[in-house]
Amino acid sequence: TQDTVILSIETSCDETAASVVRNGSEILSNVVVSQIESHKRFGGVVPEVASRHHVETITLVIEQALEEAGMTPEGLSAVAVTEGPGLIGALLVGINAAKAFSFAHDLPLIPVHHIAGHIYANQLEEELEFPLVALIVSGGHTELIYMEDHLSFEVIGETRDDAVGEAYDKVARVIGLPYPGGPHVDRLSREGADTFDFPRSYLEQGSYDFSFSGLKSAVINTLHNHRQKGLEVKKEDVAKSFQESAVDVLTKKTMDAVEEYEVKHLLVAGGVAANSGLRQRFESLCRENDVKLSIPKLKFCTDNAAMIGAVAHHLYQKDHFASLDLNGRNFIDI
Ligand code: KG4
Ligand code: ZN
Repeated sequence: TQDTVILSIETSCDETAASVVRNGSEILSNVVVSQIESHKRFGGVVPEVASRHHVETITLVIEQALEEAGMTPEGLSAVAVTEGPGLIGALLVGINAAKAFSFAHDLPLIPVHHIAGHIYANQLEEELEFPLVALIVSGGHTELIYMEDHLSFEVIGETRDDAVGEAYDKVARVIGLPYPGGPHVDRLSREGADTFDFPRSYLEQGSYDFSFSGLKSAVINTLHNHRQKGLEVKKEDVAKSFQESAVDVLTKKTMDAVEEYEVKHLLVAGGVAANSGLRQRFESLCRENDVKLSIPKLKFCTDNAAMIGAVAHHLYQKDHFASLDLNGRNFIDI
């Protein structure tokens, strides 16, 4: 494999990020500017607001990433960028910045799938051992992926409705917690008990797909009924009951896949991988089943550009380059 030093850019949602990564794992710089404060008052990410913030910030973020890495464009092998999925206006800001950089400095342009990035966040900390199964859980995605080798992604399960992070954020909202609610629900759940016994949706026998809308509705209906009857609800118990249901389904399906595909390495990634209940359960299940578990550090679980650089190293080896007509794409196979 050829050595690489890659400038990578990620703007698919509400983080403006740039990073310089050597050989897919050595992080020379990792700059992430979060827009969360701007979106909080709307209770969610507003696409147009996100695009505008990316436009304001992207140049500075790229300059800072180069400066912190002590890197000039001449020292780079390529520029990589998230091409999708994501908010289209937000993606286009990163893509256009990457194209301009590529053209100005005569560098190859590498398009990267956002979910591949979340998976390869694990490579920033240790080598991937194939074959493996990866569970991606974030605000926009819930996917189980089987990988026989580098860059070989087989989606074996995905959500049929809400992403698990989205369900977390909605439940948080109905119990009166600020956006993004996942971490708040997680914290509350530690002081509650699973008293509500919300439904667990496993779908058809043998399916690795997920569905969280029934669970979300069950939480909303329960709260509504209690309030109508003037009954007190313990928020901690709602949080704990919701979390137990989500964790039960996520871990059961994942461990079934680990068994069926006979893998020894499980990766968990995406913002919800920060969840304490999910981490604990996976830790004990993987110990029992003698499976190696990798979950990236928190800052690599949420959106960042270093993870895009980690994938780009492998794409570079395969000459997987884009031309300057690269477009943002939302419906794009991993
Ligand atoms: O990966 P991410 O930063 O952005 C997307 O690509 O979606 O994931 C954000 C999601 C949000 O829904 C947030 O509420 C959730 O991850 N999240 C959590 C926790 N920390 C973040 N959900 C449950 N427990 C947590 N500790
Ligand atoms: Zn993401």
